[in-house]
Amino acid sequence: MFKWANWFGGNEAEKEIFSPNKKIKCRFILRSGKIFYMIKKNDEIVVNESGLGFLICGENPLKDNFYLIRTQTKTHKETFEMLWGEDRFIKNNYEEAVFYLSEKKEPRRIFTLRFRIFDDGVAFRYEIPAQPKFRQISIKDELTEFNINNDSLAWKIPAYQPDRYEYNYEKCQVKDLRSFVHTPLTLKTENGYYLAIHEAALYNYGSMTLKLNEDGKLKSDITPLSDGTRAHVELPFETPWRLIMIGDSAIELTKNRLIYALNDPPKENFSWVKTIKFIGIWWAMYVGEWTWAPGERHGATTEHAKEYIDSAVRLGISGLLIEGWNEGWEGDWLENGINNSFTISTPDFDLEEVTRYARRNKIEIIGHHETVGFIDNYERQLESAYDYYARNGIHYIKTGYAGSMMLINGRREYHHSQLGVNHYQKTVELASKKHICLDIHEPIKGTGIERTWPNLLSREGARGQEYEGGALSPSHACFLPYTRLLSGGMDYTSGIFDLANNVKRIATTLARQLAYFITIYSGMSMASDRPFIYEEQFRTEFNFIKSVPTNFEKTVPLAGEIGEYYIVARKDRDSEDWYLGGVTNEDSRRINLSLDFLDNEEYEAEIFSDGKNSHYRDNQFEIVHEKTKLKKSDSLNLYLAPGGGFAIHLKKL
Ligand code: NOJ
Ligand code: CA
Repeated sequence: MFKWANWFGGNEAEKEIFSPNKKIKCRFILRSGKIFYMIKKNDEIVVNESGLGFLICGENPLKDNFYLIRTQTKTHKETFEMLWGEDRFIKNNYEEAVFYLSEKKEPRRIFTLRFRIFDDGVAFRYEIPAQPKFRQISIKDELTEFNINNDSLAWKIPAYQPDRYEYNYEKCQVKDLRSFVHTPLTLKTENGYYLAIHEAALYNYGSMTLKLNEDGKLKSDITPLSDGTRAHVELPFETPWRLIMIGDSAIELTKNRLIYALNDPPKENFSWVKTIKFIGIWWAMYVGEWTWAPGERHGATTEHAKEYIDSAVRLGISGLLIEGWNEGWEGDWLENGINNSFTISTPDFDLEEVTRYARRNKIEIIGHHETVGFIDNYERQLESAYDYYARNGIHYIKTGYAGSMMLINGRREYHHSQLGVNHYQKTVELASKKHICLDIHEPIKGTGIERTWPNLLSREGARGQEYEGGALSPSHACFLPYTRLLSGGMDYTSGIFDLANNVKRIATTLARQLAYFITIYSGMSMASDRPFIYEEQFRTEFNFIKSVPTNFEKTVPLAGEIGEYYIVARKDRDSEDWYLGGVTNEDSRRINLSLDFLDNEEYEAEIFSDGKNSHYRDNQFEIVHEKTKLKKSDSLNLYLAPGGGFAIHLKKL
């Protein structure tokens, strides 16, 4: 629905576009040749008047002197299906307005602004058509503003730091955002709305970070290249979508799926892609039992791999990750990784034999490429490395980009710059050609492109359990659903049961390790501890991990507050079963859950919850395991201990 303040094109225009349910209103403003937008929900301002435009290298800025040539509008209503994920069906209902703009003076460049107004957010992007004398441009700065009331709250992680996205979330006020932060940036406005500023469909461009400018407005800062520009592009070009997710509560925000709605459907058939759960030659390295590098305690030997395959079979898990199998881990691997080989294994690891053994036992091998950010070295080998794995029947690769910067074309570049973005994309596209799925660690943030490229099954892109042993507090996993996970699934490397280990003590209860398989979605999901821990001590708890799906029909977030707690229910894609999980921060809490989201069936519930004395610090293993019958009209009363959680499997009877 549209309300025209000025129907005709011109230097001055104001147009309002309403969301399908009319609650969100976005105003496009052209004033004295400059362009702005603002957003209201229920007639209350959520984003104040904010500027738009670009600075272009060697050219006049593209930010004023505009007039409106014409406007085009459209209503779109659609429900699409995701091959895998948290929800099978996603709505894509919006009102669209496209503003065609031109400069009044020479060189009379033209560009387009496309706005889409949804019931749960607003998105817009710039589209710059090819035009005479304006074919290739270098972006000096993108001037997009998000003018949020400065007393609003924000939950931030810093940008342009050595550990990429791997930081703890901090709560502050918008007025404190004086250094760069990553998106999704979650906010609570003074009038009580929950927002997340993010982007969708990030291709061939630097990723967007944010910082308060001198006028007190959040402004986009596109990750620069080493030459100081933000991106070199050929026209026609469209930027990623600038997205403002809007919810009435924190929990409502976690239902937002607009990143997928704003991406294209797949262009090929990806029915070969399957989500997977796996164990790994992995945590043994973190607790110092094994090493990535060859030597006496080398983890990735043929013998260990076969033993782990046998364990996977016994545990009923279908995949095995093998890290440290290739040449390049000797010495300080972070320093020396520049010559890593992705086709030559260490002398004690025989890939052909291991994959043959895996195939015989119906176990998928998850290959591993730790690039350490040395992109030139990796790209030289990319084709042969993927071929090598594909030839040996490997359909999954975990990639890694440890290292504070990338080395691309001999220059140090940010992971999240245009060149970094293009590298990640190259791996996804090449992998898709070889029918390989990826789990990218130290990735580019999620912007929903896995709708188009479903073989991108997971990412890390936040602090995961590798930071346990001191650097993770129980609140961390209570921030993630409201922040990082708004950008898609995460490989959190859940399921560590050896909680009181001297080398890596884990700040959770046992029940909470099960909860992670529900509260943190991942299309590739690792049960991360060493298999003997599962087999010898925790068979019952492990059976929950075994049963939990990696692909869901639908997700129903139930309750929570940012950094405090999060409770969610998910229905299996392949059965009538439901799974519930919850986590809390350092505070214990009792919750009463109505089960009215269930289908009209009877269920046998298997419940794993904290005991009354459980505590993440000194009583991690106390766990209550119960079975009971439940139905839609019932409610559940559950106790979550400090740093604790619960996990429930509701099996349809
Ligand atoms: C960091 C990744 O997050 C971790 O999972 C991996 O084991 C190491 N890099 C080594 O590649
Ligand atoms: Ca990492």
